Amino acid sequence: MSKFRRLGWLNRLALGLLGVLFVVLIGVFPSNSQEAQTLRVGTEPAFPPFEMKAETGELEGFDIDLMNAIGKEAGLKVEFLSLPFDGLIPALQANTIDAAISGMTITAERAQTIAFSRPYFKAGLALAVKEGNQEIKSFDDLKNKRIAVQIGTTGAGEAGKIEGAQVSQFDSAPLALQELANGRVDAVINDAPVTLYAIKQAQLQGIEVVGQLLTEEYFGIALPKNSPNIEKINGAIATLLENGTYNAIYEKWFGTAPPELPLAAPALEGATAQPFDYGKLFSNLLVGALVTLALTACSIFFGMIGGTLVAIALISPYTPLRWLCRAYVEFFRGTPMLVQIFMIYFGLPALLQGLGLNFNFERFPAAVLALSLNSAAYLAEIIRGGIQAVERGQWEASESLGMGSVETMRYVIFPQALRQMLPPLSNEFITLIKDTSLVAVIGFEELFRQGQLVVATTYRAFEVYAAVALVYLVLTSVSATGFRWLESYMNPLRKMSKAKA
Ligand code: ARG
Repeated sequence: MSKFRRLGWLNRLALGLLGVLFVVLIGVFPSNSQEAQTLRVGTEPAFPPFEMKAETGELEGFDIDLMNAIGKEAGLKVEFLSLPFDGLIPALQANTIDAAISGMTITAERAQTIAFSRPYFKAGLALAVKEGNQEIKSFDDLKNKRIAVQIGTTGAGEAGKIEGAQVSQFDSAPLALQELANGRVDAVINDAPVTLYAIKQAQLQGIEVVGQLLTEEYFGIALPKNSPNIEKINGAIATLLENGTYNAIYEKWFGTAPPELPLAAPALEGATAQPFDYGKLFSNLLVGALVTLALTACSIFFGMIGGTLVAIALISPYTPLRWLCRAYVEFFRGTPMLVQIFMIYFGLPALLQGLGLNFNFERFPAAVLALSLNSAAYLAEIIRGGIQAVERGQWEASESLGMGSVETMRYVIFPQALRQMLPPLSNEFITLIKDTSLVAVIGFEELFRQGQLVVATTYRAFEVYAAVALVYLVLTSVSATGFRWLESYMNPLRKMSKAKA
């Protein structure tokens, strides 16, 4: 018998896994010769017409065409990587990508952490409002208004400077525009070409751009500081500007001839370094933690009520009711929470408005609704399992003592069931605390989002996210300890030994 045969199956499995790990690791650390030619370029492809997904799934847009042309000119093989916009600069710092092209404005703050190529596009921010809005005609009318922006953008920076404005930050520009179309904000501050394209090409209805461009900005390709590719890329841009390739790409996407570009962005003059503000980080995370706690508490409250009702229905003798509740549980357990959040926050109002109802959600109730519906499905199964785990004989014994079914449930079954439920309940509780971070996608500023907002302006990804993780850990540890205490408190053996003493 060969040696391999004599190994137990467990050992063989371990050997196999090691092999897979080895192959994966080789893939993760590519050899140097390969690296010299490939340029990993990060982009956030929800920014038409600069970068977007074509129907075929391929990336397309002005930036994509330009980057490919630059690669060809500079002898670099361009490989695109999709990333969130606010993750591009941290990814450059971490050298996960070699460059980023994403309609990114050259700003003095950004230039402190990363390098920029020479300007490749002239742009500016524009103000979008609902068609026929008489109140907002210019930037000065935005005081105390509700404004939607994309997180980490220059638009978000401008919005932050407006007195009394209520700013909602979204992961992508289209989501911010959707928020305006749904009537939940008064204005969107976003790059003019993108907003105009959305109105013209993507048939975003009922929105218009007001006034002049708010700012003059120049887009640049972002690179890590001291990147060896800066010269190559700048050289390639110069060639493309001269030989007409740039003009052709510009005309393809914008239908006009391009404006003159300066050699360096004016914004870079007079850049000053700003120290990292720990006080601000602390206060942001504190606010975030409180919001996360409030969100969890409300969701657990409604989730418990809903879950108990569904659990009772699940063991009831009424078949249609049982099926209905089973379908509910399967749906909310079997689909991603993220999808449910989007469905409820963006989908439901659009659906109801389509039916002619004037319905809109505030962020907090929408978040609580999504989280409660989801956790109620899990809680129902936990509660049902707990109740059914109590022996049948207990029902019979109570009955023989002359107790009714409600009394039996209350004094005999439920106290025993509750003890069984505690460990899975504690799991669900901890999961819910962590899952509240998902509602960041609807611009809700809970703990994770607060951290993300700090990173978007300070680019200190590791420290900030580590601090965020720590706060979550504190919250979950406290709740785990609470449940452990409850478990020992409800232990009948403990009560007995107390009684003896
Ligand atoms: N130009 C703006 C900025 O640099 C927005 C860019 C957003 N780009 C994107 N692909 N989402 O802040």
